[in-house]
Amino acid sequence: MTNTITIPTSIEWHHDHLLILNQQKLPKVTEYIQLRKIDDFYEAILSLKVRGAPAIGITAAYGLALSAQHYSVNKWEDFLQQFKNDKELLASSRPTAVNLFWALERLEKKIDQCISINEAKTLLLHEAVQIHTEDEETCRQIGEYGLEILTPGASVLTICNAGSIATAKYGTALAPFHLAQEKEQYYKVYACETRPVLQGARLTMWELQQSGVDVTLITDSMAAHTISKKEINAIIVGADRIASNGDTANKIGTLSLAIIANHYGIPFYVAAPSTTFDLAINSGGEIPIEERPIEEVIAIEGVNIAPENSEVFNPAFDVTPSSLITAIITEKGIIYPDFNQNIREILAG
Ligand code: MRU
Repeated sequence: MTNTITIPTSIEWHHDHLLILNQQKLPKVTEYIQLRKIDDFYEAILSLKVRGAPAIGITAAYGLALSAQHYSVNKWEDFLQQFKNDKELLASSRPTAVNLFWALERLEKKIDQCISINEAKTLLLHEAVQIHTEDEETCRQIGEYGLEILTPGASVLTICNAGSIATAKYGTALAPFHLAQEKEQYYKVYACETRPVLQGARLTMWELQQSGVDVTLITDSMAAHTISKKEINAIIVGADRIASNGDTANKIGTLSLAIIANHYGIPFYVAAPSTTFDLAINSGGEIPIEERPIEEVIAIEGVNIAPENSEVFNPAFDVTPSSLITAIITEKGIIYPDFNQNIREILAG
């Protein structure tokens, strides 16, 4: 049976601008903003108005393609120079999610095939739309594989927001729960609030409530206790970059969850599209970890919770060693250890 449910999305292409859901303001305000100039795109990614690895990649692709439509140059070298400048600007927005770099490279490869500026402009936009469309299908497939691995009726814990609004639609770690709603299956989700900027409390709670998923909020420090009470059957998280040995960078706090899962003997799953793998690196130590402004830690939504002169360390991501990961759920299949061998095999199709 299929249930009609509301799965929120955050990115809409409108031929001369990109409309995005401003994730900075959720859940208090549901605001959509238009991105038109390259600086709008850069700022939206930097300030987390749009966030989540696949959504960052999609937005950057539209930003680069849309900006190129406005280059008023006649020479191919001038076109390439402006394209390179825009690409570098977007690439400097956030360092960890490899989907950003993957999308920018994919657009650059496209113009390598072009013989005129007009052709390049057309193909760039086409490619951005393609990246967006493909991601929706990819996430649906991840959701289907997720449902194969998660026992119906299970209680599952997650962190951050690896959901529909972090992708084209459905999400990665949250995709199984949206699909389960469509299929009238039942799961119970626990969402860690995800300090410092509360993607779990603000975004995952909002998103799952939209599609009717049974979701309970806990603070990050409650995870071990909640699991020790045996209320949780599995943990599922998203990813920002996965090295070729399976080491996975995801939102800060993910590593603690993996260690807790290991201690209590419950499965720890990573859900991510093939675009989140970085096969050019051997292990997680090579993944650049973004450090964000100290204000995110000193204050919550503008209200100080620590003295303003406090010393602060604010890494946005951590790396979970592959030894703590039970399986990685991708659109191409479920990858089990030995990750070094199986990642390459499954991604190769
Ligand atoms: O800083 P954010 O909110 O962009 O971090 C997002 C995450 O860590 C997500 O888990 C990851 O990008 C996967 S989104 C499908």
